[in-house]
Amino acid sequence: FEGKEKAKRAPVVSVMGHVDHGKTSLLDYIRRTKVASGESGGITQHIGAYHVETDHGMVSFLDTPGHAAFTAMRARGAQCTDIVILVVAADDGVMPQTKEAVEHARSAGVPIVVAINKMDKEGADPEKIKGELAGMEVIPEEYGGDVQFIPVSAHTGEGIDNLIEALLLQAEILELEASPDAPAKGVVVESSLERGRGSVATVLVQNGTLRQGEMVVAGSFFGKIRAMTDEAGKQVKSAGPSIPVEILGLNGTPNAGDEFFAVADEKKAKELAEFRQTR
Ligand code: GTP
Ligand code: NA
Ligand code: MG
Repeated sequence: FEGKEKAKRAPVVSVMGHVDHGKTSLLDYIRRTKVASGESGGITQHIGAYHVETDHGMVSFLDTPGHAAFTAMRARGAQCTDIVILVVAADDGVMPQTKEAVEHARSAGVPIVVAINKMDKEGADPEKIKGELAGMEVIPEEYGGDVQFIPVSAHTGEGIDNLIEALLLQAEILELEASPDAPAKGVVVESSLERGRGSVATVLVQNGTLRQGEMVVAGSFFGKIRAMTDEAGKQVKSAGPSIPVEILGLNGTPNAGDEFFAVADEKKAKELAEFRQTR
């Protein structure tokens, strides 16, 4: 990347799986806050993005909805991801969005770690899940394959440390790197217009460092970053590689999956944004 020094970066992990298999609950447990219960009907409407500091390093997570209507979002999630956590409820099994998530991960060339969730429930049958996924060529290590299957419970916390360990092990194999000193670039995760705040875009920095006050182009829009906050709503001045952050100041709402990048000045930003509008 532009001759800049490379450094190890945190893995970006997409959490995917069938509706209600416990993706948001799992993330919620990991962050030890309450997000799943605050959502209307417990349904994830969009992709949430969070990063957490673990004992063994940082991990960034993208939550995705399990609903059939959100195929495109899952496809985009898989594309800006290093690892997919495939969540399968131990008392249920492989379902349509489980299969679809496997396909998204495959077509994006992204390794899968399987979280067999709801192990606390009566009727939890991890061997059945392993058999079903093995039948789709997602082969557990204990069957001679290379996929880690981790039994967990988002309710009791059982196995969550093992899951994080599995992610960090997978990340080591991938040798993820980026150049913190390069101009920022990355991908838009979601964006909306909010009363009193204007355009609010969640972006994932993939390379370089994004700073408050910088001029950015995102999809066919541009603007100077007026404020930047982390997922907890805390103001931040900068965000390095693999960090998701909310930015204020764009002159519109770019689409999920659009590229963004920092530019030197407003004239250049305007030119590039207008060029993108015409395509
Ligand atoms: P969508 O985003 O709508 O696709 O759902 P999701 O996969 O994010 O599932 P969510 O976290 O909303 O959980 C669905 C339901 O399963 C909720 O009622 C959770 O409380 C419950 N649940 C999630 N994980 C567990 C678990 O480990 N054990 C038990 N017993 N229930 C769980
Ligand atoms: Na749900
Ligand atoms: Mg959810």
